[in-house]
Amino acid sequence: MDGANTSATPLLAVDGVSLEYRTPERIVRATHRVSFDVFAGDRYVLLGASGCGKSSLLKSVAGFVPPREGEIRLAGKKVDQPGPDRIVVFQEFDQLPPWKTVRENVMFPLLASRKLGRKEAAERASHYLAKVGLADFADAHPHTLSGGMKQRVAIARALAMQPQILLMDEPFAALDALTRRRMQEELLALWDEFRFTLLFVTHSIEEALVVGNRIGLLSPHPGRLRAEINSHQFGLHSQGGVAFQETAQRIHRLLFEHEAGDVARAQDAANAALSDAADLHRRAA
Ligand SMILES: Nc1ncnc2c1ncn2[C@@H]1O[C@H](COP(=O)(O)OP(=O)(O)O)[C@@H](O)[C@H]1O
Ligand SMILES: [Mg+2]
Repeated sequence: MDGANTSATPLLAVDGVSLEYRTPERIVRATHRVSFDVFAGDRYVLLGASGCGKSSLLKSVAGFVPPREGEIRLAGKKVDQPGPDRIVVFQEFDQLPPWKTVRENVMFPLLASRKLGRKEAAERASHYLAKVGLADFADAHPHTLSGGMKQRVAIARALAMQPQILLMDEPFAALDALTRRRMQEELLALWDEFRFTLLFVTHSIEEALVVGNRIGLLSPHPGRLRAEINSHQFGLHSQGGVAFQETAQRIHRLLFEHEAGDVARAQDAANAALSDAADLHRRAA
């Protein structure tokens, strides 16, 4: 499966993308020449420490942050603005307008993008709400729901749009551990049913291994793509297993060995400076 995919044209091509923010005081480089391809049906995870540019990359794919260098293409077409073919699910629980009911929240982008009329939008909303287990909450308002339920609404709203690619930015990071695990399980079950293409951002190695079939590892600030790992063999039930732990450790080394290398180089430089100083001292004496 994975081997067959690689010969195909990627659905999403992130090609040498550098992202920068300009503030009045300085320019912040968030990512440096990041390239990766996502194929149809992939669950591609961007994994890296906080501040390495994951959200920036996702926002750039969504069309909100233009690349300073490089290009992003979706189905061969350059991304230069947001569009209904890319829908983002965020971490925050307040991504649902509170004055709309759950069903209205799911219907809203369908109506706003003129994808469907009211009746069809309502039907599609009910369909996807049932898929995330919220059929009984369609007429509730978001503030009456738990964090996990709100994220289910956000997922139903995204899936109902049937985007070409679903973008998720640490969608479960603010949930308690048990709910988070259940949400990962439900996301994988939804993927089994709909086979959507997913670009998923996380800073958790375990979550990356469970959710992804491929993982792109980003080095710390500014983010560069350090390596790609195949993780299709891992799921919720391999957590704690030997192969899972070994891969998690390998990823940890890949993410942080660069910094270890920097420390070693800094120590070498410091030692060299000390011995130079000692030489000078000896000569002076
Ligand atoms: N709007 C912004 N203005 C200035 N700097 C920003 C902005 N958004 C993000 N950054 C900076 O860009 C870098 C990457 O941020 P981000 O993409 O949010 O990382 P991550 O999602 O991996 O934690 C960080 O150094 C962050 O401070
Ligand atoms: Mg982020």
